Amino acid sequence: MSAYIVEDERKVTTLRLREMKEQGRQVAMLTSYDFTMAGIVDKAGVDIILVGDSASNVMQGNLTTVPITLDEMIVYARGVARAAQRAMVVSDMPFGTYHASREDGVKNAVRLMQKAGVDGLKLEGGREIMDTVKGILDTGIPVMGHLGLTPQSVYKFGGYGLRAKEQAEADKLVEDAMMLEKAGCFALVLEKIPSWLTAKVCDELSIPVIGIGAGPADGQVLVLQDMLGMNKGFKPKFLRHYADLYTQITDAVGQYVTDVKSGSYPNENEWY
Ligand code: KIV
Repeated sequence: MSAYIVEDERKVTTLRLREMKEQGRQVAMLTSYDFTMAGIVDKAGVDIILVGDSASNVMQGNLTTVPITLDEMIVYARGVARAAQRAMVVSDMPFGTYHASREDGVKNAVRLMQKAGVDGLKLEGGREIMDTVKGILDTGIPVMGHLGLTPQSVYKFGGYGLRAKEQAEADKLVEDAMMLEKAGCFALVLEKIPSWLTAKVCDELSIPVIGIGAGPADGQVLVLQDMLGMNKGFKPKFLRHYADLYTQITDAVGQYVTDVKSGSYPNENEWY
């Protein structure tokens, strides 16, 4: 049983996150997609639970995040929001729900907030979606940005490789990050970019910058099933496994099958 830290019992809010950055305290963020797991993640002291559109891969078995819909995200996010007592719950806006127009993006954002009961939303992209980001912020919804490897653009990028290796893309990313902060975003995720660039963005911004495969930042985020070792074949360089649940669950289920088939489950202490 390992120890874990809950520095502050109060509900995590945009204000708390800003304080954490000012005080140099790291933000721990993980994904969850259901009530049971989110309850455990919340109790263990995670500051932000992200209902990522990675639910498309993890929960639905799709190859990308593109197919997941707003209605599907609402179902996952509602379960997570019901479980979280302390953590701030942020839901991804799925692909295509904030790209057609500012009005459309605002309408979908309001629907996701109201139906799911989450505390904020995450959108992928910079200047291209700035008008919509501002529109959503104007309604009072907290927005988290996401730059670098933005998986909803995987078909445009041609894969999941490191982003912003070239100076031009790195310069654009820094400008976009500053625009998102200026617009009023409360935090920013940077995914799979060189660590020198993450350090630069962290220096430039006064909102927390949360990295995944981006080196040291103001906080870190991982996909829960990945860090728990449930996705056997998946081990990119940035991923640390904190458990081997694939093996533990397989062993437990295998033992159950053996017990049922041998008649050792249930025994007389396990029936009425
Ligand atoms: O959808 C997701 O899980 C994410 C994180 C990887 C940042 O966006």
